[in-house]
Order: sequence, then C-alpha cells, then structure tokens
Amino acid sequence: MKILAIESSCDETSIAIVEDRTVLSNVVSTQIEEHKIYGGVVPEIASRRHAEAISLVCEQALKDAGLTYSDIDAVAVTFAPGLIGALLVGVNFAKGLSMSLGVPLIPVHHLRSHIAANYIAHPNLEPPFLCLLVSGGNTVIAEVTDYTKFNILGGTLDDAAGECFDKAARCMGLSYPGGVNLDKIATTANNKKYPLPYPKVSTGKYDFSFSGLKTAVLNLVHNANQKGEEIDVPVICATVRQRVCDMLITNTINAAKEFGFDKIVMAGGVSANSELRARMEEECKKNGFSLYYPPLKYCGDNAAMVGAQAIYEYKDGNLGDCSLNATATLPINYR
Ligand code: KG4
Repeated sequence: MKILAIESSCDETSIAIVEDRTVLSNVVSTQIEEHKIYGGVVPEIASRRHAEAISLVCEQALKDAGLTYSDIDAVAVTFAPGLIGALLVGVNFAKGLSMSLGVPLIPVHHLRSHIAANYIAHPNLEPPFLCLLVSGGNTVIAEVTDYTKFNILGGTLDDAAGECFDKAARCMGLSYPGGVNLDKIATTANNKKYPLPYPKVSTGKYDFSFSGLKTAVLNLVHNANQKGEEIDVPVICATVRQRVCDMLITNTINAAKEFGFDKIVMAGGVSANSELRARMEEECKKNGFSLYYPPLKYCGDNAAMVGAQAIYEYKDGNLGDCSLNATATLPINYR
C-alpha cells in the first residue's frame, strides 16, 4: 500500500511516499532561514509558506518516487498538535487529494509520527516499549503498548526540553533553532562555574519541569549584561545541556525499571542531542536495556514518519473524512 504522507505542523513542509516501512521519497522544504531573523517561528509566515510550497513539494515527492497520483492508495496527514494555521494547510491539501483520488484519508497525530520515525530506521522494532519523546513543544515519557496505544507515565509541567534549549540559546545570542547550536558549541562543562538549578516537581515521579532552568539562564545572562561582565557561553551551554539530560535520563531509566521495560525508544527533535544519545546509550548498556533512536534526518519534522505511523492507524480503522479539522493541542493517547 503506497501512502502519500503530508506534514505541515510547524516550519517544515514535507511530503513523503511510504510503502510498509520503506520510504520511497521524502521531500522536506524548510523555512528555518526565514524565521531565523525573528529568533523563532512566526505562525502567520509559516502558514503562508506552507501554502506556497505544498503543491511543488508534492510534485517532487511523486517524481522522486517515480510514481504518479494514480499509484497512491491512501493520503495521510498530520492533523494535531501544532500551529493551527500551518496544520490547516496540510489538512486541506490532504482532503482535496483524498477526495479527488478517491482514496482513504488517514489523520496522524504528530507525536505518534515522531515515534514512528524509529520504525523506518529499525525495521524489527515493535511495541511494547518505553518511549522518551522530546521535542520543541513536548516532553513525555509513555508506555507504547501497541502501535496506536499509549499510556502517559510523565510529562513536563511547564516548558518542553526543546523550548528550554531554544530560549537559553537565544538569550546567549545563538541563532534559531537554538537547541542545535547550543549542542554544537557546548564544551566539556566546568559545571560548577554556573550553579544552575535542577527544577523540582512535586507531582508524578516521572514528571519534568524546565521553566525554572530556562529562567535561571535568562537571569544569569541579563545580570551579567547589566554589570558588563563576560559570560562563558560554551560552558553555560554545556551546563544547561547536562541539567536537561540528567532529568531526562534519570526519569526514563527509573520508569523502565519500575514498569519492567528493557526496550527504550527516543523520539523528537531533541533526541538528536549528542549528550543525550551518548549518555542514554551508556545507561542502557549498564542496565541491559536496548536503545533505539532515529537517524538525524528523521529526528526533525518530516513526512516519512507520518507515513510510517499511518500504516498502523489505517490497520486500526482510524480514518478521516471531509469533516477532518486541525487541532492545536491534543494528547498522544487521544483515542
Ligand atoms: O521535533 P521537532 O523537530 O519539532 C517539534 O515537533 O517540536 O523538535 C524541534 C526541537 C527544537 O527545540 C530544537 O532546538 C531541538 O528540537 N533540537 C535539539 C537538537 N536538535 C534539535 N535540541 C538539542 N540538541 C540538538 N542537537
């Protein structure tokens, strides 16, 4: 079954054609350069760029796969969560295509797709497993009991890990997307130099809080600027990265032990972080767990992962019709 999958939840317009877990084509048109001057994504601009790019990206995806519209058996689309105007471009394009081709429409949850990026990279990976999902807008630890069944064990109470990285990076003058650049310039930390906090949470034991750390970096940098003091940017970057990784790794390993998982999967943009990958590898090895994460090209937003998740949504009968709408926020276990 050849699925044409569409992703437009934030600042990447992407269309892929996926058959089983094989990617026949995956075209990604990124808007990063345009949003860079504002230091973050401007939703109105994002929607307009999706509208301009989507038909061309679709033509290219078909061309790269050596296929035509008549070869497509289903259309899948990210419908939630994300920037509402951006999602609507993809959803409406998908509805038009599915109606005109007379093929099923498969709505796909964005976070489920991030997990499914692993199905492309690891053909033998199957649920159940424990997942750490870390992106720009979400930080969640979930039991993935089946391809479309999720049980949330913990999540962030405030900011996502990616938001913490991005805002910390921005206040130190690093360009958007900050998390990537913070990871690049972080040097082996003298992590006693800047006593940044580990925010505590008093709710669920697998919950996170990143806003206190983010605010501490903003205060540190602003105070230094006001006093005309130099700051050691690579060391602050390394300290922030270490704090975030400590929180993510501790909660994930503890949850795996308590719930009896020996398979851990990481997903989302922040799973590209070099320290997170290296230290999680070490911890998993120590505990006899196997670890999976996507190759860098599938960590960020792309439509191949949407197509990979769509296979299982289709098998479960989770189909949409012309009344499908976009939704800005929706938990991963919405159905
Ligand atoms: O999953 P994603 O592409 O978009 C969302 O669905 O949110 O995640 C984007 C986030 C951004 O916050 C970006 O700074 C972060 O992932 N990110 C990283 C790295 N690469 C991307 N954060 C830390 N280290 C990285 N290497």
